[in-house]
Amino acid sequence: MTFDRQVSRMLHEEHMQAAALMERLGGALARHGPSNPPGADDAAFASLRRDLGDALVGEIERHFRFEEDELFPALEARGEGDLGPLLTEEHASMLPARLRLRALLQAGQDGSFAPDAWVEFHRLAGELVESLLSHIEKEEVALIPLIEETLDAEADARFAEAYAMAR
Ligand SMILES: [Fe+2]
Ligand SMILES: [Fe+2]
Repeated sequence: MTFDRQVSRMLHEEHMQAAALMERLGGALARHGPSNPPGADDAAFASLRRDLGDALVGEIERHFRFEEDELFPALEARGEGDLGPLLTEEHASMLPARLRLRALLQAGQDGSFAPDAWVEFHRLAGELVESLLSHIEKEEVALIPLIEETLDAEADARFAEAYAMAR
């Protein structure tokens, strides 16, 4: 894919990173069913756990904030206001699971899960994988092309700089 706008490229790169993380998470959920929590000595899960801990509220939150606070209003001001509310609603619907998953990760500080905590983690993580992948797919198909069509080079440079500063 080639991009004329820096903002599209930045968002696309983050979408690919988040999708890869969700694929890793989905793989871990497939390997460890609800009654089979990963042990504290599971190195692959420990690294997933670290990456997830950083992304759930840090990287994903910053990405959502930029879309909601900067990008969607800019598109609306240019007569393209249909997509923002729908995507904002999807962000909001994922928040409780993101917060709860992070809390469950923090609770098992020694790297293992209590059986009940893993059952809950497994269910919520499965839901998040599904909803975030579908959200990313929607944005790749509809939002990225809209940014390419709608933002001129000057607005693009302004937003890209603001977003780079926030990273
Ligand atoms: Fe996005
Ligand atoms: Fe989004």
